[in-house]
Amino acid sequence: MSETYAAADKAEKLGTTLMIKGKIAKYIDRFAINLGEGPKKVGLHFNPRYDQSTIVLNSFDGEWGKEVVVDHLNFHRGSEITVIMTFDSDGFKVTLPDLHQVTFPNRLGLSQVSYLGVSDGFSITSMKFD
Ligand code: GAL
Repeated sequence: MSETYAAADKAEKLGTTLMIKGKIAKYIDRFAINLGEGPKKVGLHFNPRYDQSTIVLNSFDGEWGKEVVVDHLNFHRGSEITVIMTFDSDGFKVTLPDLHQVTFPNRLGLSQVSYLGVSDGFSITSMKFD
């Protein structure tokens, strides 16, 4: 997977919500949406993997942390999806297109999210911050 990320320079404070709508490419094995402080300090790596039929969650702070593997890949390549990501002192919560929610702790102790990175294979069509 290409690791070329587009960065959005928008600071998200504690307790904020990010609604991301985007199109998943038809022919990809994996894509990722990363939230954190920068490409090398990622509090949440949200990584749907079609080659493994899973969603992997992890953090990156110089090295990858321990993967959390979620068995809930219920959205398809080629489709447009909306995911809602919230961040507060407890950590991250991702609401998937079928409204199933997954949580991930704030392992890096971030006080705000100032970086959004999206991999190849996912193109954002609209985005809303609350
Ligand atoms: C690696 C993969 C990275 C990232 C990481 C998450 O194997 O190359 O792109 O997904 O797992 O733990």
